[in-house]
This record gives sequence, structure tokens and C-alpha cells, in this order.
Amino acid sequence: MHSLSFLLLALPATLALHVPRQAVDFFDPRQNGGSMLDDTGNGLGEPLNVIISGLSSSEVLSEEGIVNYAKAIGFSEECLGIHLGDPQSANLGDGNGPVNQTIELRQDYGDPDLGTCLESLIGGNHFRVFIQNGPQQPTGALFLAVSQEEDVTQGHTITPDGYNIGRDLLVANALGDTSFNGVNYHTVGRNITGLLPVGTQGVNHGEC
Ligand SMILES: *[C@@H]1O[C@H](CO)[C@@H](O)[C@H](O)[C@H]1NC(C)=O
Ligand SMILES: *[C@@H]1O[C@H](CO)[C@@H](O)[C@H](O)[C@H]1NC(C)=O
Repeated sequence: MHSLSFLLLALPATLALHVPRQAVDFFDPRQNGGSMLDDTGNGLGEPLNVIISGLSSSEVLSEEGIVNYAKAIGFSEECLGIHLGDPQSANLGDGNGPVNQTIELRQDYGDPDLGTCLESLIGGNHFRVFIQNGPQQPTGALFLAVSQEEDVTQGHTITPDGYNIGRDLLVANALGDTSFNGVNYHTVGRNITGLLPVGTQGVNHGEC
């Protein structure tokens, strides 16, 4: 089941805090025509199962920022910049309508340069990032579709229960104090219930 999302608040400890544009964690996409499932292109979706709060430091809430943060918690950009598969889109109810993922990050197995090549081969954790920055709800929150994949011989399908496993692994790595490239992060979080549908309806690959 996918009933649980996790909200992360990531604050780089060494950087000055900026006052966010809107003082909210995130806006519920469903309240303005959006969805907590992304669109994989086949009518089904992956759950947006981790949200990085809009109250996080603005240093985290950008493409550049999430890449550095991702490296601090064990992920990196895709193998040699080569992207596998089509981008997925999401409607975050922010007035932008459906927008393609900003970036996709993969577990780097301890090597931010080449480790994601290994992930592409042997599978592992990965996530897609969508930014809630449309004109109607510019909260700045990042919505992540996190999942644990099988290896390439399985066609990169999501492992059984891969959404929950992926979410829990990412959260376990993110909470507390982490750092990359001279930026130290302190991350706290909490579970949120009621955002995602319970069960498999509309969920890609159908596992629960
Ligand atoms: C997403 O990207 C694909 C491939 O680049 C493109 O065909 C599609 O129109 C884009 N979708 C959106 C919603 O921007
Ligand atoms: C979130 O929920 C999971 C699963 O119920 C639990 O294991 C975890 O401890 C919870 N985390 C927090 C920070 O409450």
C-alpha cells in the first residue's frame, strides 16, 4: 500500500537560512486538479511518496540544490549523463499543469561519479524530482517519486513493494546530519497519511 508519504525538512547547517516565498510545507496537488501520482505515459503513475518541504532552505529547493543534497544522501546524476527511459510528468496543482520531471537521480553506491552506472545495471534506489513552483502555488516544495528498481535484465521494473522500500531507504539516509561538497545538512521529517491512495489503483506495476 502507498498510503504513506514522508515529509523532509532539509536545512543546510552552514548556509544562512532564507525566508521562503510562501511559509508552507507544500500544497496538496489534489486541491487544484493535480495528483499525488505522476504520469508514466501509460495511464498509470508512480506515487509521489517523499516531499521536501517548501520550508527547507532555498539552497536545497532547486535543481542544483537537490543534486548536491542527493549526493549527500547517497544518490547522484544518471550514469555519464545518459538517461534511460522516457521522462514522466506530474501535475502538482500549482497552475503549471503536467510538467516533466526536472531530474532523475540514482543510488550511487558510494561513488558520485560512476556509481549510478552500477545502479543502471544492478538496480537500486532512484527518484524523480518535480518542483511545485507554478504561479498559483509557488511553495517551492520538491515532490519525489522514489522507488527501488530491479536490475537491467528485469527491464528496470519496480521491485515488489519497491515504492515503500525506496521511500524508507531514502528517508533513513536523509534524516539527521549529512554533507556533500562542503555543505552540511540537517534533516528532520514526519510521516503524512491521507495524501496517497491506499492500494494499487492507478499505480504503475501494480504492487502494493
Ligand atoms: C516531456 O518530454 C517528452 C520527451 O522529451 C515530450 O515529448 C513531452 O511533450 C514532454 N511533456 C511535457 C508535459 O512537457
Ligand atoms: C514513519 O512511519 C514508518 C512506518 O510506519 C515508521 O517505521 C517510522 O518510524 C515513521 N517515522 C517517523 C519519523 O515518524
